[in-house]
Amino acid sequence: MNARIPALILSLGLCAAAAQAAGGPAVERVPFGRADGKAVDLYVLRGAGGMVAKVMTYGAILTELDVPDRNGKLDDVVLGFDHIDGYLSKEPYFGAIVGRVGNRIAKGRFTLGGRTYQLATNDGPNHLHGGKKGFDKVVWGAQVVPGDTPAVRFSYLSRDGEEGYPGNCSVTVTYSLSSSIELRIDYAVATDRDTPVNVTNHSYFNLGGAENGDILGNVLTLNADRYTPVDSTLIPTGEIAPVAGTPMDFRSPTRIGEHLKEVGASPVGYDHNFVVNGAGGRLALVATVYEPRSGREMQVSSTEPGVQFYTGNFLDGTITGKKGVVYRQYWALCLETQHFPDSVNHPNFPASVLKAGDTYRSTTIFRFMAK
Ligand code: GLA
Repeated sequence: MNARIPALILSLGLCAAAAQAAGGPAVERVPFGRADGKAVDLYVLRGAGGMVAKVMTYGAILTELDVPDRNGKLDDVVLGFDHIDGYLSKEPYFGAIVGRVGNRIAKGRFTLGGRTYQLATNDGPNHLHGGKKGFDKVVWGAQVVPGDTPAVRFSYLSRDGEEGYPGNCSVTVTYSLSSSIELRIDYAVATDRDTPVNVTNHSYFNLGGAENGDILGNVLTLNADRYTPVDSTLIPTGEIAPVAGTPMDFRSPTRIGEHLKEVGASPVGYDHNFVVNGAGGRLALVATVYEPRSGREMQVSSTEPGVQFYTGNFLDGTITGKKGVVYRQYWALCLETQHFPDSVNHPNFPASVLKAGDTYRSTTIFRFMAK
């Protein structure tokens, strides 16, 4: 294994100890049960406007995000469960960090450096969100980060061969709040062998509150002139197509339900990667979502070149979430900032392979307003 990886993890731990000694902003840590044979902790971050973010060490999952509406009333705007048991059952990645490669790899197969790798297939014929036991199903290390704003950094060492991927990967994901009402997520990955990497957060947002019903009346703007059409198993065909004249056109504010039925997919709904205008390496506006009843608006910006817009098509009323609420189809939306699905098999897509010795860095910011 690369000698720098344990050194990196050790130095992260020392930083956090220094932070606590320096008396940075209070971040509360509470026990949240057990998973994968280990104790799980929940970190509570409190920020501007009464904002609260709760993130746990299992899956580095964002379990709760309280933000104010136009009257200053706080509501939890992400789907999830009250207790850890819900997250241990079969559930669709609520709030989780997904990886090593989020989204799909066709047939779980790719060739790198003349060698073909076969990953776990866990979504029909394809590999989805890192495989059978991806980053969402492991217990991460966690440290409070020093500084003026509440922040917690999660770390995980994904070993060579895990789920079939090459190389030891040292992964850190830092959740932080700022003086605005926003949640920032910073990702860093280092590897000792070339490997595909695509890490994202899989939060299901309902800006009216997690029990508010469907999101079809939310108004979405996507900063994307193009998208990547898919086959029946949701693998990109390789084409990068204009959104103009299709139900994918959210360049101006549009109700999500407006053209949803016209999306030729089964189950019906959006589950597509959009090509973010001007993105790739620097922060760019990805999307704005407005929920008329509460007045909440969420602005998403990211350094990632793509975003998976997903309308909870697979939610089918079989999951009972927080406060005993049954989650039904279209009851939330995901905006998963990412490299395009199956990039490793499409040379015309932005490259998703992290070279040995290089560091992958990625930032996404969810900013909230109310009007
Ligand atoms: C992503 C995928 C969807 C679905 C969800 C989880 O958004 O693109 O097809 O797998 O994750 O259910």
